[in-house]
Amino acid sequence: MRIAVLGHGVIGRHVCATLEASAEHELRWILERPELATAPKMTADVSRIMNDPEVELVCDILPGTHPSYEYMKLALEAGKHVVTVNKAALCFGFRELVELAERGGLCLRYEAACGGTIPNVAETLKLAQTNELEAVYGIMNGTTNFIIDRMNREGADFAPALREAQRLGYAEADPTADLSGFDVKNKIIILSNTAYRCYCTDEFPVCGIQRLTRGILDGFAAAGKTVKLFGLSVRRGERYAIGVAPVVLPLDALEAHVPANFNLFTLRGDKAGEIKLYGQGAGGVPTADAVVRDIQAIAAASARPGGAYFSRALVYDPTLLSGAGYIGGTRYEGTLAELCARARAEDKFLAFEPATL
Ligand code: HSE
Repeated sequence: MRIAVLGHGVIGRHVCATLEASAEHELRWILERPELATAPKMTADVSRIMNDPEVELVCDILPGTHPSYEYMKLALEAGKHVVTVNKAALCFGFRELVELAERGGLCLRYEAACGGTIPNVAETLKLAQTNELEAVYGIMNGTTNFIIDRMNREGADFAPALREAQRLGYAEADPTADLSGFDVKNKIIILSNTAYRCYCTDEFPVCGIQRLTRGILDGFAAAGKTVKLFGLSVRRGERYAIGVAPVVLPLDALEAHVPANFNLFTLRGDKAGEIKLYGQGAGGVPTADAVVRDIQAIAAASARPGGAYFSRALVYDPTLLSGAGYIGGTRYEGTLAELCARARAEDKFLAFEPATL
C-alpha cells in the first residue's frame, strides 16, 4: 500500500523505518513540522498528502486532539484508510470517524491507541463475534504502573519515578494525562465502545494517582495489599458503567505483579469467561509494531468495525461500579462516582475496592 505517516516522533520514526524496509508498502509522505521537514518525502503541507490520489492509507501518529481529528476526517473524506494511535482524537470524534469510514467503505483501525502493542482491540472484536462482552478492566497505563512499581519494589519516590518514565518515553507529552487518569479514560471509552458495540458516554468518574504517596502504599502493603490505576467497565444486560480509579488489590493478584511499563487487560465474555492480555502498554518500538499490524490487516482486507457494529443503545448506570473507597484513612461505601467526588472535594487519594466487576 502507498502510505502517508502524520508525525515523526518516537513512534512515527519506527513506523517509517519499518515501512521503508518493507517490500510490500511504499512510504510516500511524512508530515513533519516546517522547520524539521528537510528530508526526502517530508512535507509540512498536509494538503499535499490529502490531495495525492496515490496515497491509500494515512497513519495518524500526531499528539493531541487537534489537528489529528481534522486530518483523520480529511483522509477518510479523500477515500483513504486510516490507522491512528491517537486516543484523544479518536474519542473526540469516534462516531463521526466510524460513520465516515463506513460511508466510504474504508477501514479505521486503532489498535495502538488502546495499550501500546497489546492486541486489545483485535481480541475484543474477535471475542464479540461469539460472546456478549460483560467487562473490560485492568492496568491500562504504562507510566502510572511504572511509577507504582518503582515505588513498591525500589522504595522510589513519586517524582523521580515519573521523571524516569518520561525519560524512557512512556509518558504522554503532558504527563498530567497519565497521572490524572485521562489517558486511561480515553482507552476505556474506546474499548467499551468496541466491546459493547455502542457509543458510550464520556461522562463518568475519573480519579488518578496524583495524590499517591509512599505512606499510602506502605499502609496498604502492611495490610497485604497494593493499589494500581485501573480502567473499569462493566455491562449487565442493557446497562453499563465505566470509571477510572486506583483499585485496591491483594498482593497475590495478577495485576499486583505487573512490572514497569507493562499493562494487563482483562476481557470477560459470557462464553469465553475471562481472558487476560499482558504486554507493553507504552514505548516506541512495541507501539509502532501495533501500528504496522493494523496496516497489514488493512492490506489483507480483514474485518473492520463499521457504523452498524456500534448500533446498540445501552443505558449508563453508575451503580454498576460500587464498592468501598479508602480516602485519607477512612473507609466509605458508595458508587465510584460518589467516592471520586468525595476524594476530589477533600483533595485526597482514593483507593477503590469494587464490590463486583
Ligand atoms: N502514556 C501512555 C502510557 C502511552 O503510559 O500508557 C500509551 O498509551
